[in-house]
Order: sequence, then C-alpha cells, then structure tokens
Amino acid sequence: MLPLTAKKEMLKVVGVNVYYGESHILRDVDIQVHPGEMVCLIGRNGVGKTTLLKTIMGLLTPRQGTIYFRDRPLTGISTDKRARLGIGYVPQGREIIPRLTVKENLLLGLEAGKKKGKKEIPSEIFELFPDLGQMLSRLGGNLSGGQQQQLAIARALMGKPQLLVLDEPTEGIQPSIIL
Ligand SMILES: Nc1ncnc2c1ncn2[C@@H]1O[C@H](COP(=O)(O)OP(=O)(O)OP(=O)(O)O)[C@@H](O)[C@H]1O
Ligand SMILES: [Mg+2]
Repeated sequence: MLPLTAKKEMLKVVGVNVYYGESHILRDVDIQVHPGEMVCLIGRNGVGKTTLLKTIMGLLTPRQGTIYFRDRPLTGISTDKRARLGIGYVPQGREIIPRLTVKENLLLGLEAGKKKGKKEIPSEIFELFPDLGQMLSRLGGNLSGGQQQQLAIARALMGKPQLLVLDEPTEGIQPSIIL
C-alpha cells in the first residue's frame, strides 16, 4: 500500500503554456491535485486563473504541456467528454440557463454524469443549498446573483464529479453558505 504522501494525483498539469493569439498567458504551469485535496489558486485580476481552468476543461488548448486526469492525458478530449469522465466545472459568471427553471437547470447537470439513472434531484443538494428547494419552479434568470451561484454549483454536483473545478465560487455568496 502506498503511504498517504504518495497518493496518486487526481489532476496533473505539466508544463502548460497557453496563448491568446500572441499573448503568452500561462508559462510552464505545473499543478498537482491529489484525491481528497482542496487546492486554491489565488492571484490578482488578469493573472490567468480562468485561463488555466478553461484549459483544464478543454475550452482552450495549450500550445505546450499536458493535462492528466487520473493518469489519462486529456489532449484532444472534448469538454463534454471531460465532464463525462468526472470533471465538474462551474465557470466564472455562473452560466446558468436563465429561461429554464431551477429544477430544469439542476437536471441538466445529470447530462454530465457517467451513468444514466433516474431524473431526480438527490436530497443532499437541498441539504447543501436549502434555498434552492424553495424555488424549483422559478426561472433561473429570476434568481439573485448569489442564488444563481448556488444553482451553478449544485448543477455541477448533480453529475457526481470526481473533481470539481470552481472559478470564483464564492462570488456573491453569503458567508454562512461559503463555510
Ligand atoms: N479571449 C481572450 N482574448 C485575449 N485575451 C484574453 C482573453 N481572455 C482573457 N484574456 C487575457 O488573459 C489574461 C488572463 O485572463 P484570465 O481571465 O485568465 O484572468 P483571471 O486570473 O481569471 O482574472 P480575474 O481575477 O479577473 O477573474 C488577462 O490579461 C486577460 O485580459
Ligand atoms: Mg477569472
């Protein structure tokens, strides 16, 4: 058995370089995330946090470097396939669907899940985000900013991801939910 310190990485970013046109944004970035770990990426505005997370999700392609998820290189793998492999993503700015109800937005999260099962919302979602249970039939676009953020995180959890990638997850959320 491996000692705890040698636990296999869940996510490994190796020597990643990303450009927008000729603007070199990420330079030789290495990151490792082990199972059970919570890793926070902190930096000033415009430093490249969102760029890195988009690259992990396959929304941007690195010019150099490789990203591994559970030892599997993700090169050439589409964003939706990455989601089905078990990577949940909450983008900066939430991107919930405003004209769908809260319930419909949540059920959309099942599409990223590995197995197709019953189309229902597990009770843990409402334990984590009690407000959402009270507003299932409301349109997503009519929720407050913080409520939309809760909905976006809940939707990502619906797919039961092994790895959850959150971009500015606490933006607009009240401290009692953050903790
Ligand atoms: N689509 C784009 N085209 C060109 N440049 C971009 C694009 N998106 C971001 N950038 C630039 O890349 C750099 C990194 O942006 P990024 O959004 O990754 O920063 P961030 O660390 O997430 O910032 P914030 O804390 O404000 O969210 C910035 O200088 C930004 O202006
Ligand atoms: Mg950002």
